[in-house]
Amino acid sequence: MILVTGATGQLGRAVTETLLKKTSADQVAALVRDEGKAAALRESGIRLRIGSYDDAGSLDRAMQGIQKVLLIAGTDEDRRVEQHRNVVEAAKKAGVQAIAYTSRTLKDRNTLENKLMLGHFETEELIVRSGLDYTIFRNVLYMDVLPQFLGERVFEDGIRLPTGPGRVPFALRRDMGEAIANELLSEGGGKRLYKFTGREAYSFADVAAALSELTGKAVAYQPVEKSDFEAQLKARGLPDVVARRIVGFMMDIKNGQEDEVTSDLEDWLGRPPTPLREGLKLLFKR
Ligand SMILES: NC(=O)c1ccc[n+]([C@@H]2O[C@H](COP(=O)([O-])OP(=O)(O)OC[C@H]3O[C@@H](n4cnc5c(N)ncnc54)[C@H](OP(=O)(O)O)[C@@H]3O)[C@@H](O)[C@H]2O)c1
Repeated sequence: MILVTGATGQLGRAVTETLLKKTSADQVAALVRDEGKAAALRESGIRLRIGSYDDAGSLDRAMQGIQKVLLIAGTDEDRRVEQHRNVVEAAKKAGVQAIAYTSRTLKDRNTLENKLMLGHFETEELIVRSGLDYTIFRNVLYMDVLPQFLGERVFEDGIRLPTGPGRVPFALRRDMGEAIANELLSEGGGKRLYKFTGREAYSFADVAAALSELTGKAVAYQPVEKSDFEAQLKARGLPDVVARRIVGFMMDIKNGQEDEVTSDLEDWLGRPPTPLREGLKLLFKR
């Protein structure tokens, strides 16, 4: 049986949707911390295991009878590594055979500006050291976050980010969820690492050009200095620490941390991942 954590989240939902299409529901369990959000999962026949990454006892119970666990990264970035350690320890204790983890495609941990991302590398190390079979899915930045990144006034004001020529091979969350499910259902153990990315990397100038084509309305990319961007975030009322994190995140894009392209996602989907223009059409409902 496969246990999917974060199953009430967006990536988890994409994973369970594919699992349900390709295997029977009684082969799938979901770790859920808020039962109120899990009605659809329950109705689908997936077994619910109630628990939290913070509660070791609940994780011990959730791991009973499980062969593979998909650990979807937690959202509490400051506490994430500790929480993930709890999941890995519980999996080991229960004799689970393999653990999979949703990490990020970041090129060089030593030069990362957004230090919170180091938690992904630390979790990968925990998993490698666990001695369990594993699959690490290094996922690229979700294309789905673009509307939020670009803001509601993107069609009026254009794109103003300090990312310069930095490029990202964006992929849709649903494509990554589908590919993850396909991999989980595959035979064979061992130690595997995949980098799930789109087939082409795009700068934010490319994103602006794609939005222009899609809408017939000129959307421009205007580079912004890092310090001006940080000042704008603070002027919008964001706390200093949050503003610095966002700036670090943008600098990592500018510095090429996110620009690697691989065929892993396409290979596990069995078809090309959704390209940028098609994805933007879906996301911006154009
Ligand atoms: N590749 C990227 O671009 C990218 C972008 C953003 C985030 N991420 C990472 O990818 C992960 C999955 O993305 P997503 O879009 O599916 O996020 P999401 O919709 O926020 O889902 C996160 C899931 O994790 C669960 N969770 C969080 N803390 C937990 C805890 N302490 N115990 C048990 N469950 C917990 C949440 O439970 P509830 O439903 O109860 O809240 C939710 O089901 C995120 O957590 C984040 O770390 C990646």
